[in-house]
Amino acid sequence: MESVYKRIQDQRLQERVVSAEEAASWIQDGMTLGLSGFTRAGDVKAVPFALAKRAEQEPLKVNVYTGASLGSDVDKLFAEVGMINKRLPFQADPTMRKKINQGELYFIDQHLSHTSEWIRANVLDPIDFAILEAVSITEDGMIIPTTSIGNSMAFAQHAKSIIVEINLAQPELLEGIHDLYEPGSQGERSPIPLTKPDDRIGSMGIPVDIEKIKGIVFTNQLDSPSTIVAPDEETVTMAQHLIAFLRQEIEAGRLTNRLAPLQSGIGSVANAVFHGLLDSEFTDLEVYSEVLQDAVFDLLDAGKVRFASCCSITLSSSKMEQVFSNFEQYRDRLILRPQEISNHPEVIRRMGLISINTALELDIYGNVNSTHIMGTQMMNGIGGSGDFARNARLGIFVTKSIAKDGKISSIVPFVSHVDHTEHDVDVIVTEQGYADLRGLAPRERAELIIERCAHPMYREQLTEYYQEALKKGGQTPHVLEKAHSWHVNYAKNGTMLQKVVQHM
Ligand code: COA
Repeated sequence: MESVYKRIQDQRLQERVVSAEEAASWIQDGMTLGLSGFTRAGDVKAVPFALAKRAEQEPLKVNVYTGASLGSDVDKLFAEVGMINKRLPFQADPTMRKKINQGELYFIDQHLSHTSEWIRANVLDPIDFAILEAVSITEDGMIIPTTSIGNSMAFAQHAKSIIVEINLAQPELLEGIHDLYEPGSQGERSPIPLTKPDDRIGSMGIPVDIEKIKGIVFTNQLDSPSTIVAPDEETVTMAQHLIAFLRQEIEAGRLTNRLAPLQSGIGSVANAVFHGLLDSEFTDLEVYSEVLQDAVFDLLDAGKVRFASCCSITLSSSKMEQVFSNFEQYRDRLILRPQEISNHPEVIRRMGLISINTALELDIYGNVNSTHIMGTQMMNGIGGSGDFARNARLGIFVTKSIAKDGKISSIVPFVSHVDHTEHDVDVIVTEQGYADLRGLAPRERAELIIERCAHPMYREQLTEYYQEALKKGGQTPHVLEKAHSWHVNYAKNGTMLQKVVQHM
């Protein structure tokens, strides 16, 4: 037990250790909770379960704010029990997704850099409890986060009370890799003094008023592993196209072999594309990203990446085992930051990031939909993709050109929902090729996207639409009555292919 208490150095706090059930009993119907956790990493693992158990037996609905998606099926459980009134800013769970789309809970799909600003400015309901996973609490009252930081700093500083879950399964070696920086109120703040991915600008933990810490719960459970799938033939080809584009940038003198700090989005496609850099000639790379997935650790191991800054580490179970059993070798090459800093427009623009995110669909003019299936059904959320795409040196979007065995074209006349407007999208990469849209007018963009990125089975159909649109004229030609006909056709006939449209 002595070693366990080593993780709480302040004597006064040692007396506040309670069970998860007791901590959960303090939470009342209608409260707002700020939970640590970002893409399955560093999430609280005991109190949410105890709370869901209570919600099975008594009326209990709460608002849940997090960094991003939670692990341990907590979002699934919360959704099943029906205990969520409002959830923000991101989720990625199929059950919660279903409930959101059925209108059973409110979901605010928000740029991930914005949540802390709203909390700081009292835009949102005040947070009753911040419930945060920690490696330890230091003598001077700092909470040391675990594998993510997310919005934990804002939650801790603005919540009325704090519950800390000290997770003994999270290695103490994590102490020292966090960099907590509080930018201050808008209109009163100075420039964020961050010019390189490895700059340290803050403290190693979250400074809190220890009187706010109402209880401490011990847990001993690893993060949930990520669900990404291994690269396939198409994602490998996409990586090759991306590398070809980057080589063109080097030839043009706009980049060197060191490229620029890289950001890659979540999911299997983004991971596979990053993985492709392993076989490239690029060296001495830096990563300034939101989530570090497996591929970044492969690149660190291969000596391709020199340094990586992020706000969460989300790994498959084999990679988690490998990384955390050898964590010493990564410690001085990693920094974890709050998500408002990892995703901060000021920093992203200053460093000139190369930003690679995944689209669900995009249109012939370069507008991107990353969130809504067929225009209405929420997938996960915009996450940090907007923070990065709009402010990066290069806003790159990758997607396979078709989905669902070709029944869906990922390139459509007009996206059914817009997350990233044509103004924020510089380059598109599919397994067919890449389209560099910079400096191109809408009519030039349409021709290039159809020719280079669309799947051959949809190319003619896209060209027909575009030709018809051209007859109507305009800066951005469209046949408005047909702009969403491909989605309508899919809803009615299960395919976007035109020949079925003709029989409608
Ligand atoms: N229409 C309908 N479904 C589509 C589709 C489209 N145009 N394109 C892809 N899909 C489906 C796929 O078939 C797949 O379905 P399945 O789960 O039933 O197999 C699913 O969407 C996921 O697609 P996949 O190709 O496996 O992509 P992914 O795992 O790389 O995830 C996103 C892609 C867009 C869902 C994911 O990257 C995301 O949520 N992005 C938004 C947030 C973000 O970018 N954050 C990063 C900032 S750091």
